Amino acid sequence: MWLANRLFPSVRRLQARLAEAEARAAAAKADEFNPFEGGLDARGQYRATWQALSKTDESARQSIIGNADMALFESLAAADLAVLQRTVGLQSSDDVLEIGCGAGRLGKVVAPLVRSWTGCDVSENMLGLAKERLAGQTNVRLALVSGNSLAQIADASIDVVYCAVVFMHIWEFDRFSYVLDAYRVLRPRGRIYIDNLTLCSDLGWQMFERDRLSYTAGNRPPHISTYSTPQELEAYLLRAGFREIESSIDGKWLRAWAAK
Ligand SMILES: C[S@@+](CC[C@H](N)C(=O)[O-])C[C@H]1O[C@@H](n2cnc3c(N)ncnc32)[C@H](O)[C@@H]1O
Repeated sequence: MWLANRLFPSVRRLQARLAEAEARAAAAKADEFNPFEGGLDARGQYRATWQALSKTDESARQSIIGNADMALFESLAAADLAVLQRTVGLQSSDDVLEIGCGAGRLGKVVAPLVRSWTGCDVSENMLGLAKERLAGQTNVRLALVSGNSLAQIADASIDVVYCAVVFMHIWEFDRFSYVLDAYRVLRPRGRIYIDNLTLCSDLGWQMFERDRLSYTAGNRPPHISTYSTPQELEAYLLRAGFREIESSIDGKWLRAWAAK
């Protein structure tokens, strides 16, 4: 009993010291995290994100149009081709480049109409699926890009650049970097088409609200859609040097197009 009385306070003191040391170590570890040091930017991990989303053609279709149904995939491609024809137009003499070509959904309907079609993407899986989808088409080239530049494409070598269903998934800075680089690769009088979901229609706003309420700041997927206004896309085009800038809103879609 005497021994227990003597030892108990020492054990308690030791336990308290250990707990304090653990708390200090945890706090020191938390302090090591510096949010201004530029840690992992999950949204900017484009390649890793889209590689994971395109392990099969079915999962790629799901991630591209939100539905794996092949008939829907192809009918939406036909509708998007009509948009390109209405905005930038496609001529049989055109060399055409798609930024973020995915599994070749649009390439399949565009390539047969033009002189050449180049599909650029950050994901090798997507490019592999595009290659399969466009097999037999001899005017096709595919290029793996870094996420914000068209470095592999020569200056003034392209007549039409388009980027469909990509801007919602990437940083605003990278949107503009692509518009700038599109200006470089386009020939004089070349045309550009870009699009995004918009905040400026009832349907676009409903989708924005759905996304806002579906995720908390800590669990948003890296490729979650972020929306645009006409002013944003027009500013990119203007600042990159394009002219004859036009835009339209069609349901959830904002489209903008211009000439070099
Ligand atoms: C929703 S899919 C659209 C694919 C295609 N444009 C279509 O409409 O069928 C988005 C595509 O953009 C690609 N992508 C994502 N971030 C990119 C980036 N920073 N640069 C180039 N491609 C990117 C993805 O790998 C994916 O293939």
